Amino acid sequence: MLTTPAARASENGALTAKPSPPAAVASHARIRSLEDYHEAYRKSVEDPDAFWAEVAEPFTWRRKWNKVRGGAFSPEGSSTWFEGAKLNITENCLDRHLAARGNKLAIIWEPNDPKERHLRLTYRELYNEVCKFSNVLHNLGVEKGDRVCLYMPMIPQLAIAVLACARIGAIHSVIFAGFSATAIADRVNDAEAAFVITADGLNRGAKQIPVKRVVDEALEHCPSVRKVLVIEHLGWPVHMHEGRDVWYHEEVKEAGKTCTAEEMDAEDPLFILYTSGSTGKPKGVVHSTAGYMVWADYTFRNVFQVEENDVYWCTADVGWVTGHSYLLYGPLLAGATTLMFEGVPTYPDAGRFWQVCDKHSVTIFYTAPTAIRSLMAAPLDNVLSYSLDSLRVLGSVGEPINEEAWYWYYQHVGKERCPVVDTWWQTETGGIMVSALAGITPSKPAHAGLPLPGVQPVLLTQEGQEIEGNDQEGYLALKAAWPGVIRTTYGDHERARQMYFAPYPGYYFTGDGARRDENGLYRIIGRVDDVINVSGHRFGTAEIENAINQNPHVVESAVVGYPHDVKGQGIYAYVICHQGEGSTEAERNHLEASIIETVVAEIGKIAKPDKIQIVSGLPKTRSGKIMRRILRKVAEGETGNLGDTTTLLDPQVVDEIIAGRK
Ligand code: PRX
Repeated sequence: MLTTPAARASENGALTAKPSPPAAVASHARIRSLEDYHEAYRKSVEDPDAFWAEVAEPFTWRRKWNKVRGGAFSPEGSSTWFEGAKLNITENCLDRHLAARGNKLAIIWEPNDPKERHLRLTYRELYNEVCKFSNVLHNLGVEKGDRVCLYMPMIPQLAIAVLACARIGAIHSVIFAGFSATAIADRVNDAEAAFVITADGLNRGAKQIPVKRVVDEALEHCPSVRKVLVIEHLGWPVHMHEGRDVWYHEEVKEAGKTCTAEEMDAEDPLFILYTSGSTGKPKGVVHSTAGYMVWADYTFRNVFQVEENDVYWCTADVGWVTGHSYLLYGPLLAGATTLMFEGVPTYPDAGRFWQVCDKHSVTIFYTAPTAIRSLMAAPLDNVLSYSLDSLRVLGSVGEPINEEAWYWYYQHVGKERCPVVDTWWQTETGGIMVSALAGITPSKPAHAGLPLPGVQPVLLTQEGQEIEGNDQEGYLALKAAWPGVIRTTYGDHERARQMYFAPYPGYYFTGDGARRDENGLYRIIGRVDDVINVSGHRFGTAEIENAINQNPHVVESAVVGYPHDVKGQGIYAYVICHQGEGSTEAERNHLEASIIETVVAEIGKIAKPDKIQIVSGLPKTRSGKIMRRILRKVAEGETGNLGDTTTLLDPQVVDEIIAGRK
């Protein structure tokens, strides 16, 4: 049974029925040639209403829309798509596949430990589990529109829980299970969630993490939470808070087996996902139901050129947007088989990804450059000892992929046979925006490529002038709305407006810099705002500074990104401590350890600074503004060319910073 610990649950792998004979994967609106692409692109720009109405046609709608596009995309940032339509996304992910694909595998789950057995769920089994889970949520009092936060291991119950929320119209907000208790509390409070779903513990490589304990600590600061639903995964004893905490395996005994999906409006929020921006605390990106659904499905099928018998594996955690759009919703909407992996790329060794590919005959593999770079560092035998014969498409996401990593991936994993799609997008875009379509549109190392139909990228000067022509570089912005565009930031629409739509009226501003090559292919250069991308995870420099500043020894700090061989960008923190502190090396080591501890407690291990330099001052202008440009150059090791430092309040401080550079 799914509700028992992993060891027991995995025994049920044998339960699974054989895949049914293939029916063609939804071939509607499929781009199968370069001509198709150009034609679709042209239509999407010239007549977007007709184009998207046609793409949306084959979904299960309880009622069709009155209007395809509405709202003011910019500067208000209030797009609507398929207004007036009624639907439930889970009827599109599950119910509509039952007739043709009831016995087809929906989810293959591979555990952290290769010695444990995997689990397989057909569409019919997944549907049944989602119905039961939905009823458990109903019985707990979860209602349409309620926010439910999930802090979970990568186990099938996470996928089931997310779908169950969507089935009953609750808004799910998944919090990556590497965030700290403080970070959970911030998110739960911002979302005003009354319900939390978690597990006893999780496996991550050689480590086991007491997830429930972290949630308990967080919930001391979350007055809105009424119920906590706990999944038994490791079989660990946990403290159950009376009146608040309940076990899933107990509740499910009382739950009905069928559950009619709630009828949702096209624009009803489907989920909130917190992500970092250049200012303040992470914000809750809100995605809608219908527009997100159409975008996730259309982009998934076309970018990866999915066929009925594919076994598709996206290595992202469901705690990030990639896990939402391309591990869960996109594949299930398309009726594909999606693989979910509990573990990490390097456990028990650096061959684990490739062993899983061979074991399950994975055909499409989608991962992040940071994972590729970490595996490149291991002996090549780790990849060469697997056949990888089943693979036919490779994908990359989350950060720029450097050419060396691209070639390694293409040669050693794809055996020079599999097209690589480098997919550029963001939490806010809901799905892939710029990418090659596998084997169809051009794929060039380190370039995302051409925009998808419906996407109109432009390069802007800092002043907001459009830069025409090819072989150009500028700020990347998007003209005209697409179905998956962010609808708002939870509880604060003005923040979304200011962040994305106000900087350059008429455009959505991405925060990225890009280059358009001589053939019009886009290459993403990196962020142009105060956001750093560490191993594909976004952090605002201000967010990390706020965390560091919580340390009692710290007076002030400034954080910048610097190039990092594996992580893409590393976190470099310049920290001023109270006078007299940090004068000896031993003291400095102690301070550094204490600062790291603070960041881990405030945000989580994923935001740990890679380098901390204790300084006596920061380079500031006479008006008190920190000159980050100088700090970035020092962190990058470009100390010979710091530009004009004459406007600094205290130019001497720069010499000290250079001398103490880590
Ligand atoms: O800087 C870009 C980078 O990741 C940012 C979005 O981060 P997030 O919302 O966490 O979403 C990650 C998964 C989509 C972007 O602003 N980024 C994402 N994909 C790429 C990328 N940079 C270069 N190439 C990519 N393929």
